[in-house]
Amino acid sequence: MTVPSGWFEWHDRYGDPRDPLAARLRHVRGHLDDALRAAAPGPIRLVSMCAGQGHDVLGVVPRHPRAPDVRALLVERDERNVAAARQTTMESGAPGVQVVAADASRASVYRDHVPAHIVVACGIFGHLERDDQLRFIAQLPALCAPGARVVWTRDPQQSDHLRAAFEAAGFLQRAFGPTDPEARYGAGVHELVGDGAPYDPDAVLFTFLSDAPGDGPRHRMGPRVDVDTSSRPAGRVGGEPRPQEAT
Ligand SMILES: C[S@@+](CC[C@H](N)C(=O)[O-])C[C@H]1O[C@@H](n2cnc3c(N)ncnc32)[C@H](O)[C@@H]1O
Repeated sequence: MTVPSGWFEWHDRYGDPRDPLAARLRHVRGHLDDALRAAAPGPIRLVSMCAGQGHDVLGVVPRHPRAPDVRALLVERDERNVAAARQTTMESGAPGVQVVAADASRASVYRDHVPAHIVVACGIFGHLERDDQLRFIAQLPALCAPGARVVWTRDPQQSDHLRAAFEAAGFLQRAFGPTDPEARYGAGVHELVGDGAPYDPDAVLFTFLSDAPGDGPRHRMGPRVDVDTSSRPAGRVGGEPRPQEAT
């Protein structure tokens, strides 16, 4: 039996249009729409890592003029999210979308979808240690076709080193925002303008450290705060889910 991770309920926030996470989703969908429109004629390979319930990709691809060209792979490890994404895929009629229950950190899972034209890495960077974030970005060219776009998210106040790492890996920033100092959710688009790199199916791309929302490197780095854990729900290790948590 799978222990519920809390990552299924995390998606409820997308249902509240005033929630900043819902605003982030609107940005991400806009970037995906642009990326699909900008794609060269012919097949478009799209991979979404740690895809959750697929609100971003499945909110754009099914009704997009380029939908018939899209072969998308959504990789997610929480089985309830996988089931939800498959249900949406079926209901929205997107035959080119495949949802798999797998570890998105393994390059081997993308074997049949690389080099990709669009890579979606949303809700990941906030759950990696800093060095791992940089290693992950450095490995992205090995998954990308020339001109590929990576759509990603991170708290804008925590993103300078990520944008520098994209640049060092041969990507050009196409978009990043919002830049408002109060904003906790940012979405970026980087386009591969440098050379790609050889695909290595044995590569491990990142180590996702949060077993549940509210648990992860960002929270462990803060000052230690002693809390009464006696009433904490099972499965929420390392802190309660934070409604405004940036991912
Ligand atoms: C913050 S949520 C983001 C979901 C989605 N990308 C979005 O932005 O709406 C992180 C997701 O990553 C999934 N996840 C964590 N580690 C994973 C792994 N190694 N492989 C696949 N999915 C993973 C979790 O189950 C969760 O659904």
